[in-house]
Amino acid sequence: MTTNAEIQTALPALASGNVAVITGAASGIGLAAAKRLAAMGMKIVLADIGGARLDEARHAVAAIAGESAVLAVATDVSKADELDRLAERTFGAFGDVSLLMNNAGVGNNPGKPWENREAWKQLLDINFWGVIHGVEAFAPRMLAAGKPGLIVNTGSKQGITTPPGNLAYNVSKAGVKTYTEGLAHALRNEPGANVAAHLLIPGFTFTGLTEGATEKPAGAWTGEQVIDFMLASVLRGDFYILCPDNEATRSMDEKRMAWAIGDIIENRPALSRWHPDYKEAFAAFMK
Ligand SMILES: NC(=O)c1ccc[n+]([C@@H]2O[C@H](COP(=O)([O-])OP(=O)(O)OC[C@H]3O[C@@H](n4cnc5c(N)ncnc54)[C@H](O)[C@@H]3O)[C@@H](O)[C@H]2O)c1
Repeated sequence: MTTNAEIQTALPALASGNVAVITGAASGIGLAAAKRLAAMGMKIVLADIGGARLDEARHAVAAIAGESAVLAVATDVSKADELDRLAERTFGAFGDVSLLMNNAGVGNNPGKPWENREAWKQLLDINFWGVIHGVEAFAPRMLAAGKPGLIVNTGSKQGITTPPGNLAYNVSKAGVKTYTEGLAHALRNEPGANVAAHLLIPGFTFTGLTEGATEKPAGAWTGEQVIDFMLASVLRGDFYILCPDNEATRSMDEKRMAWAIGDIIENRPALSRWHPDYKEAFAAFMK
């Protein structure tokens, strides 16, 4: 595990007393981030849909950071005005923000490409637009402050290799990947800017999103492992925070991604990895 001292010496954005805003903070990866950053002495703003889980998360984080260092704000990231309100509450309570984690996400599968438009829109409004709403609400003030800042958006391997199963989720996370790449480029070309963007790409992680499992599957990482890997990656200066898990190694992910982009280069059918004619070729490629 990377120590807090190592991280905070190299990354002034994460200094004790600085402010971190985390969406989707009532559960899973977001809650693990909140607890770890609280243990580093940061002030924490927890944003999630309201209710008992958000209250419980606030209690848990306050037990680490102290009551006065935690703010919980019921926020629906699919609504731009709620992110604006979150920003007002945050800047009013704590002042400048140095870490924004746009992490809220849902996995409800709306089904086929031509069905359930409203459910498709809802998923995209949360997973994709939620990230943009967060950046719009916080980035201008983070830039204006002129201080070191980080924006971490949570994508997914499903937004890169786009496996069949939940197309709307894949589309949303492919959008987050492209948006965050463009955000990183825009930030590094902004005169005087000291804010960097990163794409968090968790592997299989045991959280509220892991359907059906009551205890951690052997192949999954915990949220805490993801956050430790995230901090170590940001420390190295990595834009792509490509997390392995207990099943997928980095080299397996590299091959899967190479095969996916190879569909275009080799003029194979879309998603050839799951096409019966390419089963053997893909298996051989992975060896
Ligand atoms: N768990 C995995 O294996 C995995 C893998 C890749 C990516 N991810 C991504 O990681 C992120 C965190 O997910 P998690 O696995 O910790 O799941 P989780 O369900 O434990 O946490 C997601 C949180 O987002 C909140 N949320 C949902 N809709 C919201 C909305 N409209 N506004 C505000 N908050 C909302 C939920 O209430 C929940 O607390 C998500 O973006 C997810 O897509 C997870």
